[in-house]
Amino acid sequence: TPYLPDDPESREDLDALRRASAGCQGCPLYKDATQTVFGSGSEHARAVLVGEQPGDQEDRRGEPFVGPAGRVLDEALAEAGIERGDVYVTNAVKHFKFRRPEGGGKRRIHETPNIGEMRACRPWLLAELRVLEPDVVVALGATAGKALLGSSFRVTKQRGELLPLPDLDLIGTPSAARVADETARGRGEDTGVRLLATIHPSAVLRADDREATFAGLVEDLRVAAIALV
Ligand code: URA
Repeated sequence: TPYLPDDPESREDLDALRRASAGCQGCPLYKDATQTVFGSGSEHARAVLVGEQPGDQEDRRGEPFVGPAGRVLDEALAEAGIERGDVYVTNAVKHFKFRRPEGGGKRRIHETPNIGEMRACRPWLLAELRVLEPDVVVALGATAGKALLGSSFRVTKQRGELLPLPDLDLIGTPSAARVADETARGRGEDTGVRLLATIHPSAVLRADDREATFAGLVEDLRVAAIALV
């Protein structure tokens, strides 16, 4: 099965990419997941929101952010004044990674994708970004941040800042993080595209202080909204 479509034309079209991604076997996650969950939203979206990977409900329904984390995201976007119709949502990894409870059971427990899985899936994310050419990319959580800026990226340190998104050709190369850093300091080439990292919406659901955690997410998204006006 082709990992990425060889036909360059298919890369110019989200539907063609989506169809090709359905057969992806670029890492072992396709074996246990129900289906590839490709991105969703307007082709004209100026903001692309990148999550980690589909959750249980997303895996079943084939759509990103339609479960509990998606509801938090929808609320946060609304509060930040960003219309869901203006954004395209996708994930760094497009198959659900999970384990079963010890001792057996039907429940599927989310597992964080590893670097190999992130790396294997990254061409799909980059292909989406090439087609969409957004003004701002929002990394929701550490996995998305690392997928775009390298494994040394720490969302806790740089959340809520409008950073330059490195040239897509550099993402995934050893220099991506350095390039982002240099551009942030006013050196190097600025592609004009902004990257904003924030927490993952599911962190709100796990937080002791949900209200404050949610408010922090909204605050960060408001910064992303500035890059849209
Ligand atoms: N969490 C994610 O990161 N992505 C989804 O699509 C759903 C939950």
